[in-house]
Amino acid sequence: MKKRILAAAMAAAMVMGLTACGGSTASTTAAAETEAATTAAAAAEDGATEAASAAAEAAGGDLSDKKVGISIYKFDDNFMTLYRTELQRYLVEECGFKAENVVIQDGKGDQAEQTNQINNFITQGFDVLILNLVQASSAPQITDLCSAAGIPVVYINREPDAAEEQRWADEGINATYVGCDARQSGTYQGEEILETANKGDINGDGKVSYVMIQGDPENVDAQYRTEFSVKALTDAGMEVEELLMMRGDWDQAKGQQIAQDALTQFGDQVEVIFCNNDAMALGAYQAIAAAGRTVNEDIYLVGVDALTEAVQNVLADKQTGTVFNDHFSQAKMAADCAINYLNGEAVEAVNMVDYVKVTKDNAQDILDKLAQ
Ligand code: GAL
Repeated sequence: MKKRILAAAMAAAMVMGLTACGGSTASTTAAAETEAATTAAAAAEDGATEAASAAAEAAGGDLSDKKVGISIYKFDDNFMTLYRTELQRYLVEECGFKAENVVIQDGKGDQAEQTNQINNFITQGFDVLILNLVQASSAPQITDLCSAAGIPVVYINREPDAAEEQRWADEGINATYVGCDARQSGTYQGEEILETANKGDINGDGKVSYVMIQGDPENVDAQYRTEFSVKALTDAGMEVEELLMMRGDWDQAKGQQIAQDALTQFGDQVEVIFCNNDAMALGAYQAIAAAGRTVNEDIYLVGVDALTEAVQNVLADKQTGTVFNDHFSQAKMAADCAINYLNGEAVEAVNMVDYVKVTKDNAQDILDKLAQ
């Protein structure tokens, strides 16, 4: 038993080693990432202290006295709640940080508040910060604060712009970004529509008429998903018609309201509802059902994240598809970057994890992964 646990921990640690920042992230496949998360989760589930210490050992030594400050843009966000729970679990259960040394703050959607939290982390001598900024455009200012205090920073989920990332590399600043390329998720959403029987043109009038429910438009995830979902259709030669585009701020209730208003205004003209995330797609589904429409028959609906309820909806023909925003691999990679900094190792400026397209074909597999 003990051997098996250690073997699992070592396997997880080895894959982690391969995928750690500064390593060969580019060649890492999503499958390997997911497998690593699965193996790591299995090792942790076996409850072994050995697993935790083996992972910490592989990461380069004793982390139990190091302090990690984390700030999430707001706790009231479905996807970021999954992400932060996994990040905390991984840091404490698998990497050997003391629970009290992993402090997670709620940015409450307020950049000034979050900047205060970061200043407090700095004053209190935290060793490394993992930050999900309220406004990605604050990255230069926050980076300079941290850098002046000699504290490395790992940005997650909300990507600073390319010029800022280049500055870290050029000036040797200990700052890095861990996330996913949102263009990929947008493209997958478009492909899911193209894979339907009529490629989204339900009424056969030669064009796909859609409603776009956007996240927070300041966020590059919202911008790219909006652009690339439609681009996948036009690249495939489809004509498109945008009936409505509105911001729903990643929020389920707003998604529902926007979809309801759109269905009232445009009725049967609406063939596709693109949502930049699943929370808004769950809301849109409520509006679709209330309007007496039937997903995959007279309307299509796609989201991103692979929230459990959304994946269940894909299996039940209540949502056409989604895209797995792999919070297991992102949390692991963010933590591994932080550990590399603590060990004085080099970290690349940008570290990307692959998205996974989710349709009826693989929805059960994804649900199984989410349940582990
Ligand atoms: C996106 C995710 C959204 C929301 C957002 C917050 O990647 O799809 O659901 O969590 O991040 O920045």
